[in-house]
Amino acid sequence: MHEKWWKSTVVYQVYPRSFQDTDGDGIGDLQGIIERLDYLQELGIGAIWLSPVYKSPNDDNGYDISDYCDIMDEFGTMADMDELIREADTRGIKIVMDLVVNHTSDEHTWFIESRRSRDNEYRDYYIWRDAAPGGGEPNGLRSTFSGSAWQYDESTGQYFLHLFSKRQPDLNWENPKVRQEVWNLMNFWLEKGVGGFRMDVIDLVGKIPDQEITGNGPKLHEYLQDMHRETFGRYDVMTVGETWGATPEIAKQYSDPKRKELSMVFQFEHIMLDQQEGKDKWDLKPLPLGDLKRILSKWQTELGDQGWNSLFWNNHDLPRIVSRWGDDDALRVPSAKMFAILLHLMKGTPYIYQGEELGMTNCPITDIAEAQDIETINMYHERLGLGFSREDIIASINAKGRDNARTPMQWDDTPNGGFTTGTPWLRANPNYSSINAAAALSDPDSIFHTYKQLIALRKANPIVVWGDYQLIEEGPEQLFLYIRRYEGRTWAVAANFGGTAISASVPRLGRSEAIIIANYDRTAADFTQLELQPFEAFAVELV
Ligand code: NOJ
Repeated sequence: MHEKWWKSTVVYQVYPRSFQDTDGDGIGDLQGIIERLDYLQELGIGAIWLSPVYKSPNDDNGYDISDYCDIMDEFGTMADMDELIREADTRGIKIVMDLVVNHTSDEHTWFIESRRSRDNEYRDYYIWRDAAPGGGEPNGLRSTFSGSAWQYDESTGQYFLHLFSKRQPDLNWENPKVRQEVWNLMNFWLEKGVGGFRMDVIDLVGKIPDQEITGNGPKLHEYLQDMHRETFGRYDVMTVGETWGATPEIAKQYSDPKRKELSMVFQFEHIMLDQQEGKDKWDLKPLPLGDLKRILSKWQTELGDQGWNSLFWNNHDLPRIVSRWGDDDALRVPSAKMFAILLHLMKGTPYIYQGEELGMTNCPITDIAEAQDIETINMYHERLGLGFSREDIIASINAKGRDNARTPMQWDDTPNGGFTTGTPWLRANPNYSSINAAAALSDPDSIFHTYKQLIALRKANPIVVWGDYQLIEEGPEQLFLYIRRYEGRTWAVAANFGGTAISASVPRLGRSEAIIIANYDRTAADFTQLELQPFEAFAVELV
């Protein structure tokens, strides 16, 4: 059976605004990505998920699109984009576009027309409603970026829906013309030879606003099947949906090949573990490690042959993993490698977010004036109004704010980490003087080289791609231990998920000298009496 290429590849996410600037305006650009393709080829990745590069007024850094078939001025031109696709292709790298079609920018011509009059031919491209009978917003839907999801528009006396910022009006997917527009723009990019799509908040497009249903609406899967048929079904591409509300059952609906929807989805169950039950991501609580093991393992086993996992710790919306659940100080290097080893030897397609392979860290702020992200800024003002203390809000921002992951890529120890010769749009993390790509490339023991080795292991060993997964539950809570099995081979992966040494005894796994990868000097694993250093991780072949 011919297997899909995206099951055995590793994807690298580029956030273009912060990757590499070439014209000194302090904002990354497409020529910058082209310049760094050799670096990515050296790492060994097979695809780039490119955060949005389309024309945009940047209310939400490109996730507010005003023209899907044109390029953002700061990033370059369509000729640059064609060059990027071509140059990546010569290095065996596919470009996966970010498809943001739950909403557009309020500067998209569809919306400019739509808000002109109630009988405009584009009116029904968006979701307009009268005020509630007693006045005020049509209902209680809330925006992810704080406040009501309804914005009153003076000129026509109705409200429009925006599940994100008020400059990101939601498209009305119930209108078949809207769906046809989306198929058209997808086909425009497919004809250019892109490698697929990452689909922004795709689980929201089947919403029924009047019933306050947003995620997993009843028509969602029908729309995705139509999309598959009308667009990418004819191409050998990958598709990955961003689905915050997915359970394994729901993920199978999206990714069972028989249903002809998507290749895989991003699930976020593990990502939400350090927030208080029923509250927001800003309401912090310590990570319950047992739940992390149980949840990641559940996803490993439950999709079976009816789905495919995506594996990730990081993206442009999440804090840096080494700061979040590891140690971004003295044990930064072993903890960053531990996260890599633990995740990359699981079953599924791994995603690396730019800088993760360097162990880049969060970048704390002391004042809201340092923040750039609309979600963070809106939340700050909302919570101040609700009576939260300034200190608590800043602590939440430093733990979870999206700017943490968006600081410029750290290439070398020259000013601004070599990201720009100008003033960066977001301050570079001052630790670029020691944490940077140039230093990592020249150090064979660097985090970069662990990632490179893991990608090479995946390419050389079918067990990594296809092997069964089993969690081994013996040992202390802090030990994350699993085995993979495939065609007579068995690998064990052990990780100490904490900053203190631990010991464990799992005699049935025996003793082996066949170490595959490790983040400490280790030549053998004796599971009858296993000693693990702080954040130590390794994989070993059981013989
Ligand atoms: C999810 C994206 O990842 C995030 O960055 C964006 O703000 C929202 N969707 C809205 O597009």
